[in-house]
Amino acid sequence: MEKEDLPLFAEWANKPEVWGEYNPLLQMSRTEAEKMFESPHEAKAFIVERKDGTKIGFITHFCVLHPAGRQLEIGYSLVPSERGKGCGTEATKLMVDYLFLSKDTMRIQAQTDPRNVASQRILEKVGFKKEGTLRKSFFMRGEWRDAYVYSILREEWKEPKILTKTA
Ligand SMILES: CC(C)(COP(=O)(O)OP(=O)(O)OC[C@H]1O[C@@H](n2cnc3c(N)ncnc32)[C@H](O)[C@@H]1OP(=O)(O)O)[C@@H](O)C(=O)NCCC(=O)NCCS
Repeated sequence: MEKEDLPLFAEWANKPEVWGEYNPLLQMSRTEAEKMFESPHEAKAFIVERKDGTKIGFITHFCVLHPAGRQLEIGYSLVPSERGKGCGTEATKLMVDYLFLSKDTMRIQAQTDPRNVASQRILEKVGFKKEGTLRKSFFMRGEWRDAYVYSILREEWKEPKILTKTA
């Protein structure tokens, strides 16, 4: 994500339909988006683009727990009109390749609402394994919801699926 993407990112982040049914609602000002963009300790966001350059969503990674634990978590959202075309799966494969190639991390994790079948299918197709349920772990639309935790370990990833070690 480049600085010029911040207005679009902030616009998406304030639209409930971009987060979908299974994410907490969020308000993010341009200033907050800029802070996230500039701080290496906050989430790092990538814009998901079609090959023709159309921007269709975002995928993020961020550190969980203490940075020394080197656990990374990812999250993603696409605009509604671009869902169901395989882009979420491809973006997640790219992100997993990128993180294992560029960061000295042993595991990448993701959390998802138990009802979010599309997200769980992405994670399974990319090689994540379901680890368990965090009970009542996030507050969403007026109630506490469980979250499934998925992860992929470096040894399960083995080698890049889309990126290469030399490119
Ligand atoms: C989750 C999300 C990123 C999926 O991206 P996508 O590009 O639509 O997913 P893909 O097209 O790569 O499809 C992945 C799999 O999910 C399935 N799927 C897609 N939409 C689905 C739906 N609404 N219900 C059930 N399965 C669905 C696809 O069939 C595919 O599985 P298959 O290969 O076995 O057929 C997208 O739906 C989204 O942005 N949702 C709102 C935000 C969100 O929930 N983010 C995840 C938070 S954990």
